[in-house]
Amino acid sequence: MIRFENVTKQYGKDIPAVEDISFNVAKGEFVSLVGHSGAGKSTLLKLLIVEDRPSSGEVFLDDVNVNKVSPAQLPKIRRKVGAIFQDFRLLPDRNAWENIAFALEVSGASSKDINSIVSQVLKLVGLEDKAKKFPKQLSGGEKQRVAIARALVHNPDVIVADEPTGNLDPVTSWDIIRLLARINELGGTSIILATHDREIVNALERRVITLDHGRLIRDEIKGRYVL
Ligand SMILES: Nc1ncnc2c1ncn2[C@@H]1O[C@H](COP(=O)(O)OP(=O)(O)O)[C@@H](O)[C@H]1O
Ligand SMILES: [Mg+2]
Repeated sequence: MIRFENVTKQYGKDIPAVEDISFNVAKGEFVSLVGHSGAGKSTLLKLLIVEDRPSSGEVFLDDVNVNKVSPAQLPKIRRKVGAIFQDFRLLPDRNAWENIAFALEVSGASSKDINSIVSQVLKLVGLEDKAKKFPKQLSGGEKQRVAIARALVHNPDVIVADEPTGNLDPVTSWDIIRLLARINELGGTSIILATHDREIVNALERRVITLDHGRLIRDEIKGRYVL
């Protein structure tokens, strides 16, 4: 479903942020992406959400070569991938419901669909009673749940999570990881989790891809956090 073929991304004349990366992710997989700060995790995820293009090599999403997608096709491709981040990235002047609805409004969904989908994803993340709360009235864990709900509105094939627990305490971090694991199991949504939380990665006992200085140095089915 996701295929990286010899992907290199170089910013300016610097040494490449990621270099000659190849891997596949199948539907329904849960993959942790680990590596020290600066190893290239976020760069890899940006290529996946088509926020950046590779300098060389190919990224395929469902057999679509994202390098060759026209600007007009881009929104359609991006909807296949939901993204969440360490800093949540919610709109401060919209409440939880509106933050989630916004992702549907920009894609032209009808208000009937918006109502039904937003209710559904809010329920899935367990936040029905916080729908009217603004980001500043929510805890970190709740904000991340809103972000997860928003990432789900287009029923994506994959959710990419860039250090989603980086601003959360250990207990809340586990709530978020369990929620991602449940979404993975329920809907067959693939998850790609960039993290440097050793405990989480080892407890998951899932596939682990390790980056080091932009290189993929390890890819193990039941991997451990080895750095
Ligand atoms: N937009 C950018 N412009 C220039 N260099 C960048 C940019 N984004 C990332 N880099 C560089 O690419 C390397 C990998 O960064 P990043 O992907 O953010 O690593 P990680 O997420 O693993 O910490 C770093 O050396 C970083 O400084
Ligand atoms: Mg990063």
